[in-house]
Amino acid sequence: MISEHPSFSARFLSESQPLHITSFLERFSADFSFYGSGKAALSDGLAGLVDPGENVLVPAYLPDAVVEPLFDLGLEARYYRIQENLAPDLADVERRLDDETVAVMSVNYFGFPQPGLAEFMSLVDEYECYHIADNAHSPLSVDNGTLLGTRGDLGVTSLWKLLPIPDGAILYCNDDAVAERLDPSSFAGVREQFGTDDCLFVLKSIIASLLETNETIRRSVDDFVASRGPSISVPSPSARYEAGKTPMSKLSAYVVEHTDPQMIRDARRENYFAWQRIVEPRSDVEVLYESLPEGICPQVFPLRTSIPQRVLEDLERCGVDGAHTWPRLSSTVFENPEYDRATTLSREILVLPVHQHIDPSAIEDVGDRLPW
Ligand SMILES: Cc1ncc(COP(=O)(O)O)c(C=O)c1O
Repeated sequence: MISEHPSFSARFLSESQPLHITSFLERFSADFSFYGSGKAALSDGLAGLVDPGENVLVPAYLPDAVVEPLFDLGLEARYYRIQENLAPDLADVERRLDDETVAVMSVNYFGFPQPGLAEFMSLVDEYECYHIADNAHSPLSVDNGTLLGTRGDLGVTSLWKLLPIPDGAILYCNDDAVAERLDPSSFAGVREQFGTDDCLFVLKSIIASLLETNETIRRSVDDFVASRGPSISVPSPSARYEAGKTPMSKLSAYVVEHTDPQMIRDARRENYFAWQRIVEPRSDVEVLYESLPEGICPQVFPLRTSIPQRVLEDLERCGVDGAHTWPRLSSTVFENPEYDRATTLSREILVLPVHQHIDPSAIEDVGDRLPW
């Protein structure tokens, strides 16, 4: 079974890591702080820079909860259109900018640098707005010697999307003036004690590993869950934001201090290439990023298809549990004709797991069994 996320296991941690994630980050950034979630980090990063009533421009192709910190700060979230290759539609950005625009967000999707960034940055500069680099997907990606997330005035990265940890994110302040205005809230930093959430996370990881390796138990659990009727609904965007208003857990900090970023990047890249070999020759699916430049650590393997449901069903039948469409768009954007491309992309882009605990041979086995 290929799961969506890596499971926590002490065997992947090492006491004497020559290079761990914190020391890796220190090489590239002089000013970063840990948080429980990227959304909490974004809230803190912006709080000292904005006044209620101002607006922030964000791409339409974005998960619904990302704008919650903006609402919390009394800001308007103004969505701009994106292009087929996920680059910002600069004409649309410019059309939506006004005197109340305080910041504009770019996104490094799926571990890759934002296409069209240079032009985007000069536009943001011209209008004297802050540039927020949403780097939730790309904590370990280095593009031409620069760590992704450090190109904006402020940047936000989610560590929990790459590591087997209960929570964890980073706020980068890449500009001295921004750093001076940062007044860290109670969500900044690392919790002092291990908590119940840490224990629950470890327990869930043990159960998940058991289910992954034991087909009989997994089927019984699946049958049991199916017999309980429709699954529990996803909490609202604001509930998810509120849940992330916390410092990073002690367990997350421990994993960050005992994980080799190079090992993670190498493993994810190998798995990316394994999916690419399977997908590239097929006519019904299109590889979103054909090139995986050196230094890039993919969060997932994104592909585009006009038959997403069929592809997902085939993948599930072949043992891929963690593939899905991305993202769940805001209700302002979804099916709004103004943002038709974002809606189409959210239906047609599928993300496949490449995490560091998948053996590339498991992906190759899937490739041998897929009908397309
Ligand atoms: C593009 C993007 N930005 C920001 C976030 C928010 O990150 P976090 O869940 O750590 O708050 C997410 C999370 O899904 C995301 O996908």
